[in-house]
Amino acid sequence: MAVVLTVLVLFLAGFLFTVHTVHFLWKIQDLLSELCVLFAFEQGRILENIGICTQVSFVRYMQGRKTLGADPKLLIKDLWFEKVPVRIYQPKAPSASQRRGVMFFHGGGWVFGSLGKICNRNSSRNVSVRHLKHVIYNSILLLYRLAPEHKYPAAYEDCLNATQHFLQHLERYGVDPARVTVCGDSAGGNLAAAVSQTLAGRADLPRLRAQILIYPGLQALDFNLPSYQQNQGVPLLFRERAAFYMLQYLNGNATKLEEVLEGSHIPIDIKLKYRKWVSPDNIPEEFKVRGYKPRVLLDCTTEVYETVKRFCEPNLCPLLAEDSVVHQLPESFILTCEYDVLRDDGLLYKKRLEDNGVRVTWYHLEDGFHGVINSFNSAWLSFPAGKRGLDNIVNFLRSL
Ligand SMILES: *[C@@H]1O[C@H](CO)[C@@H](O)[C@H](O)[C@H]1NC(C)=O
Ligand SMILES: *[C@@H]1O[C@H](CO)[C@@H](O)[C@H](O)[C@H]1NC(C)=O
Ligand SMILES: *[C@@H]1O[C@H](CO)[C@@H](O)[C@H](O)[C@H]1NC(C)=O
Ligand SMILES: *[C@@H]1O[C@H](CO)[C@@H](O)[C@H](O)[C@H]1NC(C)=O
Repeated sequence: MAVVLTVLVLFLAGFLFTVHTVHFLWKIQDLLSELCVLFAFEQGRILENIGICTQVSFVRYMQGRKTLGADPKLLIKDLWFEKVPVRIYQPKAPSASQRRGVMFFHGGGWVFGSLGKICNRNSSRNVSVRHLKHVIYNSILLLYRLAPEHKYPAAYEDCLNATQHFLQHLERYGVDPARVTVCGDSAGGNLAAAVSQTLAGRADLPRLRAQILIYPGLQALDFNLPSYQQNQGVPLLFRERAAFYMLQYLNGNATKLEEVLEGSHIPIDIKLKYRKWVSPDNIPEEFKVRGYKPRVLLDCTTEVYETVKRFCEPNLCPLLAEDSVVHQLPESFILTCEYDVLRDDGLLYKKRLEDNGVRVTWYHLEDGFHGVINSFNSAWLSFPAGKRGLDNIVNFLRSL
């Protein structure tokens, strides 16, 4: 009898579990199509293992599934800036004066972001871009080439090239040369920081008014900084994924992921050289109380270093730029989230900017996680922290 009951209970539990799981899976997939995240990634991995498609193309497919209606208040144009496809959002209402201009570099680990966000003309969504564009008037969303097919520096070069083109033709778009801002979230924050650095001090182009870095990833020397340890298993960006994406961008594959995670990918002398900028010592104590253990510096083999040595290039890891570059950077807004492996990248860059006399507006979401801004007002999930973050970004833009 007990056996029969147990079987029955197990069967029922299994049934309920399946029903809930299926329902849940759909929700997650919904979320995924907006957020480029984990679940489909795992599914993608499974599919890849059975040889159907690669992880990356599967997640891109998932993202591309969803479409929403267009926005009647906006004029949306798809154009090319040099060789880079861009989408311009302009309010239809006429303006007496020139408008602000924002170049927006989307996130997605350098590997996602094409289909769902950009390719479908009618899929203007209630994600960060959509909210930003109402306020900032003329914003340009650009479709840079993605890894793993296009390795570093392809994405960076596209962002730079398109931004230069924009700065050279502002009058065409009714944009005020004194008010052009670059903005990006996550991998896009990395690209925005790299482009700002490259354009800093360029006399032949209008100077950028500001840079907005939303939970940016800015370094690959140390994936064991406090925030990486503390949040290693926190969705939507696991520690292992952060390193995985960096490697995809760098090399088009994740070879040497173990070494990168462990910290045995960069020789000790190089680590020491950059320790003034990339070190837990530069993270304020209050951020270290939650489960952080200092680690000994590991050395690495020449073979490993050979595969990842371009991590030391500031165009890939902007945290490593020289002071002479950093001190020329425009006013900056940095958003960090407490529950985000990339938190300390943001904190370290904030310190570098401030040490070089650059004005920084820092907004820290105590209850935020990686991706929280993008999820604001998404189809089925919306976090108060996301709204607060977005409101602060918008206020900053209004102040420019
Ligand atoms: C986009 O929307 C417009 C009207 O809102 C419609 O006429 C057009 O066919 C749509 N295009 C696509 C590609 O769905
Ligand atoms: C999109 O955002 C606007 C402004 O916050 C809101 O009024 C609208 O209901 C949202 N639409 C959807 C489909 O979430
Ligand atoms: C963009 O890149 C191309 C080469 O790929 C170059 O010829 C062109 O001058 C660049 N444009 C700008 C504005 O930098
Ligand atoms: C990974 O990328 C590196 C650098 O592009 C290359 O040398 C290596 O052969 C690749 N490894 C695999 C397994 O594809």
